[in-house]
Amino acid sequence: MARRRQIFEGKAKVLFEGPEPGTLVQYFKDDASAFKNKKTGVITGKGVLNNRISEYLMTRLGDVGVPTHFMRRLNMREQLVREVEIIPVEVVVRNISAGSLAKRFGVAEGTPLPRSIVEYCYKSHELDDPLVSEEHITAFGWATPQELDEIMSLALRVNDFLSGLFLGIGIRLVDFRLEFGRLWEDDQMRIVLADEISPDSCRLWDIKTNEKMDKDRFRRDLGKVEEAYQEVARRLGILPEGGPRDMKGPAVMQ
Ligand code: TMP
Repeated sequence: MARRRQIFEGKAKVLFEGPEPGTLVQYFKDDASAFKNKKTGVITGKGVLNNRISEYLMTRLGDVGVPTHFMRRLNMREQLVREVEIIPVEVVVRNISAGSLAKRFGVAEGTPLPRSIVEYCYKSHELDDPLVSEEHITAFGWATPQELDEIMSLALRVNDFLSGLFLGIGIRLVDFRLEFGRLWEDDQMRIVLADEISPDSCRLWDIKTNEKMDKDRFRRDLGKVEEAYQEVARRLGILPEGGPRDMKGPAVMQ
């Protein structure tokens, strides 16, 4: 069988040319990295779980009118997505102090923020993805002011929807990172959610115990990393117990 053309290889995913023009195949790896690639490792089964978790969350967001690049899951590790022109800005939404925000401002981890905070980082490995302001983004032409308004509004809608969804299964959405892209259809351009939404890109804490259920378990050597990703999938009702077709609805927590 002819090997597909690889478009891009990232830390956790590979993008291949898709079967139709304007499509890509997104392959989820088990590889994990943190601290600008200084820490690397493998989280067994992560790719399979993130493929399913991201499929589920992108589909639910699509159902409530958030445009995404997601088309359909192809198999255990691959999904078909629309090819978009990625905006070189990572959008982080925070509800509770954690990670780099806790460090930067000396706000104890776990402190609820007075309101949700949206931050932007310029996507550049060489520069270590520096935090940037809206001024930098528009002045350097990474996105127009109108695009940035749309991105901010979509990011807050995603936060509202996902916070509620996770709350329903006993998980607090502490913070998360999104990427957006430009999707061209005929002569029209739309901003759509791209990349993935998974425990790699979110901080998820158990509501009762505050136990971390995300990549911080890998970053901070907390152990039980695979189990945490599995538990998120299980609560979402998408952990296949009797094979890939055994799909259940979300397990609502009391
Ligand atoms: P931070 O607190 O390290 O800035 O991370 C904020 C959120 O963004 C957290 O949910 C993890 C996610 N994130 C990524 O998805 N990729 C990254 O490279 C970084 C640094 C954070």
